[in-house]
Formats: sequence, structure tokens, C-alpha cells
Amino acid sequence: MTVATAPASVRPASRLRGRLELPADKSIGHRALIVNALAGGPAVVEMRTPGRDVLSTVACLQELGVDIMAAADGPITRFTISGMPSRDATLDCGNSGTTMRLLAGALSGLPVRVVLDGDASLRARPMERVASLLRAAGAEVATTDGHAPMTIVGRSELSAVTHRLPVASAQLLGAAALAALVARGETQIESPGPTRDHTERMLAAAGVPVRRDSLVTTLSGPIRPRPLNLTVPGDVSSAAPWLVAGAVHADAEVTLTGVGLNPTRTALVDLLRRMGADVESRITDAGGPEPLGELRVRGGRPLRAVRIVGGDVAQLIDELPLIAVAMAAADGISELRDASELRVKESDRIAATVAGLVAIGASVEELPDGWRVSRDTPREARIVTHGDHRIAIAFAVAALGGVASAVELDDPECVAVSYPSFWSDLAEVASS
Ligand code: S3P
Repeated sequence: MTVATAPASVRPASRLRGRLELPADKSIGHRALIVNALAGGPAVVEMRTPGRDVLSTVACLQELGVDIMAAADGPITRFTISGMPSRDATLDCGNSGTTMRLLAGALSGLPVRVVLDGDASLRARPMERVASLLRAAGAEVATTDGHAPMTIVGRSELSAVTHRLPVASAQLLGAAALAALVARGETQIESPGPTRDHTERMLAAAGVPVRRDSLVTTLSGPIRPRPLNLTVPGDVSSAAPWLVAGAVHADAEVTLTGVGLNPTRTALVDLLRRMGADVESRITDAGGPEPLGELRVRGGRPLRAVRIVGGDVAQLIDELPLIAVAMAAADGISELRDASELRVKESDRIAATVAGLVAIGASVEELPDGWRVSRDTPREARIVTHGDHRIAIAFAVAALGGVASAVELDDPECVAVSYPSFWSDLAEVASS
């Protein structure tokens, strides 16, 4: 059965079974569109059920004068991209921090004057860090008290510099790398911890001399990327709900196919295994810029408590609300530290996750940079999502897996930011 609309409430499934194909990876999708626009096309990029964030990037590029045609073929959208950003514009990045930060980097080196704005959540997120990074390379960027709206006056050439990122952030790294395309000489970007490496992979596939050695990315410019046709793999962050639901459920077997298995994105698989879950991962195609494969989870195993600290946090950043749900199903007290970045995501995800865990009956303590969680008696709860897709999905999974006795979400539609087909996929795998 498939349903397109969100249910009024989610209840524990008697069992979970099925195979799912996931929406296209949002991180890779943004980069595929932006790098091809910088190349000037022509290129074709295919994505399964792209979410609202990726569509924000499409709309912004169109506003800048890039010709992007979208043709739907069932769940697949084929974007044909040609032309470069060439028009001054005021851009609505919606809810998407990646759109805003990557475009800030990409547009700093193009002859356009642009105002980047977004919704209330995006206006509350820190933009001074990306602005000062770009200013260090000679870009003209102004924020509004450290936030959006952000104004960029593009320059035809920027300086090659050594950046030391203030936080391990793939968005900051990506912004600095895209700006470096118009800098003469070698730009180095040093990160305090590991991050996803999609920008480097995409640029390398587009013929840009770029490499990552451990925590340092090096890029030589000026260089224009070559257009790149590609099919964006399934989003491993959209596999995460099913991996966690399967791991906490007594009777589950779910397979996810066509998933991007970039090793900088699969830390959840290792973490769930560390907790005792039965998760298999198999690469089926390592030939493209991003490895592709299959994930399978089987339920029914007791889970152990886990502690997440330091460099592991950035590798799990989007999965942490879901991991909190797994923690609330495990034996013992689990802990997350060093995750204050979560406070500046689409919502304050520490506060929102802790409030949700309290509501579903888990035992939880909020920490400035994380939480401590253990299992208690599941309850029925109404969850305040703050319009945050990751919070909505995490607590839907809590109910599906029996970590809550039932959950009602205040904004079930917000899942469409990253996962428009979430509710129909849930209906497909869950037996009542
Ligand atoms: C992203 C990086 C992550 C992640 C976001 C997407 C990206 O943020 O939370 O959903 O595509 O670069 P960081 O900038 O904290 O790494």
C-alpha cells in the first residue's frame, strides 16, 4: 500500500518488511547542480524524488539565469542544465543551509550581485562563519548581524589562501572550495575534524585538480569545471530511518537499494553494529564519483548503550536525532557530547530531541553539547517538530519501532525537505 499524505499519528508496526529505493542524496544533488552551473553545462542530472532543499537550489540557479529544465519520469526527475549564473538576483534558499552556504562560495567569484535569503529557520542560522571565510579570500560579503539576508558582490578573481575552518563543516568547506575555483594558485582548507567529501569528489570528477589528504583539502585554480552528467545516488541519510527502525524493532527486515555508500557518510552503519544491531552493507558499483550499494537491517537483537564524542560527531551529524531514538531503546545509559553544532541546524536539535524523548517517556538529561539517554516506559506523545524534517522523521521512527507507544507530529509534511516519499515508504514497509 502507498499513501501520499501523512498519517494523523504513527503507531508501532507489528513487523517491518520490504525493499525501498530512497530519494536522491541531497548533499550530492546540491553540488551536482551548482558545479554544472559553474561549468555552464550542458549536463543532465537525474534524481529520484528530490526534496524541497534541492528544489530550492534549482530555483535559485534559475533565478540567476541558469537554464534548468526539469522532466519527470515517474519518481525520477531529469534536470537539464545549461548556462552560467549571470543575473543579479534576490534568492530564496528556503530552509536549506547547504543552498545558502554553497551558493555564497560559488557566487563570490562570478560577476553578479546577489542577496541570499531564506525562511525563519534559515535566517536564525549562523552565516558570519561562511562570510568571513570568503572575505579572507577577497570576496565581498555582508551579513545581517551575522545572519541572512547575506549580500554578495561577486569578483572576477579571488585570492588563494589557507583556511582553517572554525568547525568541521562540509558546507563551509564546500563554500571555500567553490570560491577557490577563481583564485590563482593553491587554496588549502584545513578542517578540525572529518566531514563528508562530496565537494571534492564532484569537483575532481569535473576535472578540477583537488585532493583531500586527511583533514586538508587542496585545490589549484583558476579553473572552470567540466560539465558532468550523473545520476545522484540514494540518500544514505534517508536510509537512516529504516536502519534505526529495523534495529529497534523485534521483527524487521528492510533492504535499501541504490544507496550512496560514501565512507564519509556511513558512520551510522558502524555505530548501529557497535550497539549490537544486525546491519549489512554491500557496495555494488564503485565506478562513479560516489560508491553505490545496498544496506540491509534485521531486527530482534538487544541494543547496547553507546557514547559518541569528538570527531565521530560530524560524521553522524544528520543522524543524531535518530540515534537518540536507538539510544532510548538500548540497555544502559548512552551519551552524546561535543555536538553543540546541533543547536544551529534547522532547529535547535538538542532541545527538540530532548523534548521529544521526554514526551515519549525516555529517561533523558540535556547537556550543553548533547544528551544522556536511557530506556523507560514508552508513552503516547505529541511532538513539536519546529518544522525540522530530521526531528519529524526521528520521532515517527520512535513510534514505528515501539520506542514510543504512539506519536502525533505537529508538522508531518516537513519531512519533504529531504524525504518527500517518507510517508508512502513507511506505509510500504510497516504492517499494522
Ligand atoms: C551538508 C553538511 C552537513 C549537514 C547538512 C548537509 C552538506 O552540515 O548537516 O545536512 O551537504 O554539506 P555541516 O556543514 O555541519 O557539515
